[in-house]
Amino acid sequence: MRRTQSIHGQWSSRLVFVLAATGSAVGLGNIWKFPYIAGENGGGAFVLLYLGCIFAIGLPIMIAEIMLGRRGRQSPINTMSTLAREEGLTPAWSLLGWMGVVTGFLILSYYSVIAGWALAYVFHAVGGMFEGIGADEADGLFVDLISDPAQLMLWHTLFMLLTVVVVARGVRSGLERAVEVMVPGLVVILLALVGYAAVEGHFATGFQFLFSADFSRLNANAVLTAMGHAFFTLSLGMGAIMVYGSYLASRASIATTSFMVVIADTVVALLAGLAIFPIVFAAGLEPGQGPGLIFKTLPIAFGQMPGGTFFGTLFFLLLVFAAWTSSISLVEPAVAWLVENRGMQRAWASIVTGALAWVLGVGTVLSFNLWSEGVIFGRTVFDILDYATSNVLLPLGGLLITLFAGWLMSRASVSEELALGNTVLFRLWYFLVRFVAPVGIFIVFLNVLGIL
Ligand code: PHE
Repeated sequence: MRRTQSIHGQWSSRLVFVLAATGSAVGLGNIWKFPYIAGENGGGAFVLLYLGCIFAIGLPIMIAEIMLGRRGRQSPINTMSTLAREEGLTPAWSLLGWMGVVTGFLILSYYSVIAGWALAYVFHAVGGMFEGIGADEADGLFVDLISDPAQLMLWHTLFMLLTVVVVARGVRSGLERAVEVMVPGLVVILLALVGYAAVEGHFATGFQFLFSADFSRLNANAVLTAMGHAFFTLSLGMGAIMVYGSYLASRASIATTSFMVVIADTVVALLAGLAIFPIVFAAGLEPGQGPGLIFKTLPIAFGQMPGGTFFGTLFFLLLVFAAWTSSISLVEPAVAWLVENRGMQRAWASIVTGALAWVLGVGTVLSFNLWSEGVIFGRTVFDILDYATSNVLLPLGGLLITLFAGWLMSRASVSEELALGNTVLFRLWYFLVRFVAPVGIFIVFLNVLGIL
């Protein structure tokens, strides 16, 4: 008999699922990472590629991932082995779930450190440290923070504790409550920042940087970064969205909900870009600043605008919230498995998972100070983790999902779960999942390896 509910519980409504999935998707990826990688890769052309990957690869894979999760109704590891057995395939497909669990750990270990920066900035903002500051002071403030391992450890620890506490409380009273206020609040404050950037910043220059495509600035690696980021920002390829799908009621439409999540995620990223680049150019800064970009630019804006201390505090607080609702989804697949297979209590499972990622996080803390020269070929632990997860592991997970859902699972099972009938929509999705997404991922991989 097919399960109709997960043993871990179920979202109380379709809207809550959309909020939770949006909470997972919208995070540091949108506000911290998207602007700086767009900046490093020359803007417009990169943004266009990223948007192409979101809609041609990300959206269809999101639908596939939620579909698998809801059909299996367990942790991604067990979901994959159950579904594989049902379809007469080898249960070794559970390895896809395992790969996701490992990827989640790796991501969380650095995610928590960066989220820690945001936490630190909440306190900077409250303390009025942005008031009247210019580009040099903003730079100094950031450098002071990242060059101090003790401080970074403190914030990293605090953020990991926040994550563990929510996951320990479970789907309903933990995850749900956290997401309900975050997304709307964040959009409102981003809009206010875009408004400020439009009035006070070099808006036209910023806009042009983001949206006018100059393809000569792209190389194979930029293409890989754009695709990898599409996976990262939508939380795809590691089981986070799959496990959230396993808590979704059977009647809810997977296609509609996925579409809403993807749009929300994209809007937030573009708004973040529109808020940041006008300020970057007005302050005479370089867009290719790397990971410090928002921390070095936004304080300048807050420092100048009326009510900047208040808005600055609110902004970084919301950024912490955004990161928080993402980090909980990074641990959920591991926690669900520990509960299912090891009979562990949820609270313990959360603590164990968080502790492991916390230890690994030390590598990222040191990447910005003691080990900033790099550990292998001049690359820091942070660089390596970021590259391996976004550019390799997530797209690889996505590729395997398209093979499973598009080629190995029977069309009958897939179409039963999606409940779209044989509509144009269904056929379009099936085409994207069978051909466009896997071929796209494959080509980008070959391209980077220099084979194509
Ligand atoms: N989507 C999140 C962000 O943009 C990061 C994330 C990746 C969360 C993978 C879960 C799984 O910040």
